[in-house]
Amino acid sequence: MYSDIIAEQKRKYGKRLAILGHHYQSDEIIRHTDLKGDSLELARQIEKLEAEYIVFCGVHFMAESAAIVRRDNQKVYIPDASAGCVMANMAPAWLVDKVLTKILNETGRKIIPLAYVNTPAAVKTVCGKHGGSVCTSANAEKMLKWALKQGDGVLFLPDKNLALNTADKIGIPDEKRILLDIRGKGEKIDTQKTVDKDLLIWPGLCAIHQRFKLSQIEKFRKEYPGCKIIVHPECPPELVHAADGDGSTSYLIKYVNESPEGATIVIGTETNLVNRLKNMFPEKNIIPLGISICSNMAKINEKNLADLLINLDTSEYEDVSDEIRAHAKTALERMLQVCA
Ligand code: 13P
Ligand code: SF4
Repeated sequence: MYSDIIAEQKRKYGKRLAILGHHYQSDEIIRHTDLKGDSLELARQIEKLEAEYIVFCGVHFMAESAAIVRRDNQKVYIPDASAGCVMANMAPAWLVDKVLTKILNETGRKIIPLAYVNTPAAVKTVCGKHGGSVCTSANAEKMLKWALKQGDGVLFLPDKNLALNTADKIGIPDEKRILLDIRGKGEKIDTQKTVDKDLLIWPGLCAIHQRFKLSQIEKFRKEYPGCKIIVHPECPPELVHAADGDGSTSYLIKYVNESPEGATIVIGTETNLVNRLKNMFPEKNIIPLGISICSNMAKINEKNLADLLINLDTSEYEDVSDEIRAHAKTALERMLQVCA
């Protein structure tokens, strides 16, 4: 019934409406999308879209990022604005600003902030103001290398696992990294300990990916000798090291797509995506490393999508103030330019 309403509203709006969906959305949502992708692919599409109504099925920072780069004649909506990202909430803008300012003032070094796209718009503003940028899991290596060239060191936030995994890939040695102690509202940071470091790491994480364990990888290696194991880089470094590959949600899909028939592939990421791959490739043996559902992604369902589409003209849309937009847009555009 809800799917009929959605189909009817899509017919009504035609090209004036575009529904975008992140790969972690459920199948009931994905089947209604005009475009699906990882965070980078979706961010790249916004400005190119003809549609004036953009409905973002994902979590809030994704819709907010779309609202930052949208054109003046476009409006961005999310079916449930309470669908937040727990990791994004671990780096509130006031704290990022406070910590960065303290480091800059007390060390006199030029530290470039690089925010994972999983952050609130106001954090992207801080990055834009301080010559920094944004990255996604698909371009973290490229953006970290870029950021290192812009100053004396980089503050990477909020995901410590993505920071460590990316540092491993580009060869930043352990002694050049520091995990920041942001307890006590940032008062505890000993900024002198950061003066000889290239990479200052915010201690955030994604609980959905943190919960995978090395013992699960070991178990599958024993059970399915010759299997391939791939994980998202939000997983802890010991899992990434033990896996055969890691990358963004689009990387995981491509890996499965390109694997030979009969291959056994164990995947460490959000369950909706693993289940979809299982259904898409019945000739391959797709196994979840463990069950791990992002309850925020799951807040978007056919009911709230249908409700939104029926009331599109009167619904609240995502927007950011001009003050936030100016620098946040600079930060996002730097990423889109570096990765063009
Ligand atoms: P991707 O950029 O790989 O799609 O990941 C986004 C995300 O939130 C993963 O948890
Ligand atoms: Fe955020 Fe993790 Fe959910 Fe991705 S899977 S949206 S990082 S909580």
